[in-house]
Amino acid sequence: MGTMVMVLLSFSFCIFSARVDGNDQPSAYEVLKSYNLPIGVLPKGALGYTLDRNSGQFAVNLSSNCNVHVSEFDIKYNSPITGVISHNNLGRIGGVKVKIALFWTDIENVNRNRNQLRFKIRKVGTKSFPFSDFNSCPNC
Ligand SMILES: *[C@@H]1O[C@H](CO)[C@@H](O)[C@H](O)[C@H]1NC(C)=O
Repeated sequence: MGTMVMVLLSFSFCIFSARVDGNDQPSAYEVLKSYNLPIGVLPKGALGYTLDRNSGQFAVNLSSNCNVHVSEFDIKYNSPITGVISHNNLGRIGGVKVKIALFWTDIENVNRNRNQLRFKIRKVGTKSFPFSDFNSCPNC
């Protein structure tokens, strides 16, 4: 019971922490969920964004650039994060890099296939992870 409450609280945190400007635009995290994507593909600190609902083109501002460590990977988010969103997919991503061996390369695409999340990494290929690994937003 206590664990459940903690999970819900931490889950809510990154959703509602985005509503700092007090307008009625859904948060960037809520937008991700509406496209069936996990909130954990963005770190905490997403602020304003633009989204063209027709083309899916988006740009998200972060409160600061951000380095996170997720499972065995170092990931760098450079604001703004850009791309094209559609159901189960983030394409043409800009502003997100991952360190593979000793070099940094771009995460180009994130695709959901049921309970797997597939990352297309430039010059490396595709890596899949369980969807549940991305249920919370990484801390910068
Ligand atoms: C994002 O940040 C840039 C640079 O600070 C600013 O010009 C732009 O208006 C911001 N966009 C949104 C949607 O908040």
